[in-house]
Amino acid sequence: MRVLFVCLGNICRSPTAEGVLRHKLREAGMVDQIEVASAGTGDWHVGKAPDKRSQAAAKLRGYDLSAQRAQQVTRADFATYDLILAMDNSNLRNLKALQPAKGKAELDLFLRRYDSEIDEVPDPYYDGDQGFEQVLDLIERASDRLVIELKGRL
Ligand code: 4NP
Repeated sequence: MRVLFVCLGNICRSPTAEGVLRHKLREAGMVDQIEVASAGTGDWHVGKAPDKRSQAAAKLRGYDLSAQRAQQVTRADFATYDLILAMDNSNLRNLKALQPAKGKAELDLFLRRYDSEIDEVPDPYYDGDQGFEQVLDLIERASDRLVIELKGRL
């Protein structure tokens, strides 16, 4: 099983989701069976480590994002990944425009799939620290539910 998280820049939200899910899979003893990655629809930050604010907020909760490097999503990803999860509706629209007619990946909005209260992970890039905490709160809750789904699919 392969899971890809996608946001706009691949330096805030999707790297956080990648780090949180990998941590939770390790705790659940599933980390060797499920590959997790992240990408951005944009290419501005390709090759860069996650935003310092994302790294700092994640580290305080025990997630190490420091080894991650930003990459841009490609059409080939639809053949590689089983599940592609977008952080907001704009990301989802961009992914739908890129999606080949044939491709195994199931494409969905991350929070719509796993959270009944809110659909989108808000972009924290231009926000203060509170935005980064909210990103983590939303991603942690949805990731717990994603782990349960993945357990059922193994
Ligand atoms: P992300 O946040 O999509 O969660 O990585 C952003 C990062 C950078 C920019 C926008 C959003 N940017 O415009 O450079």
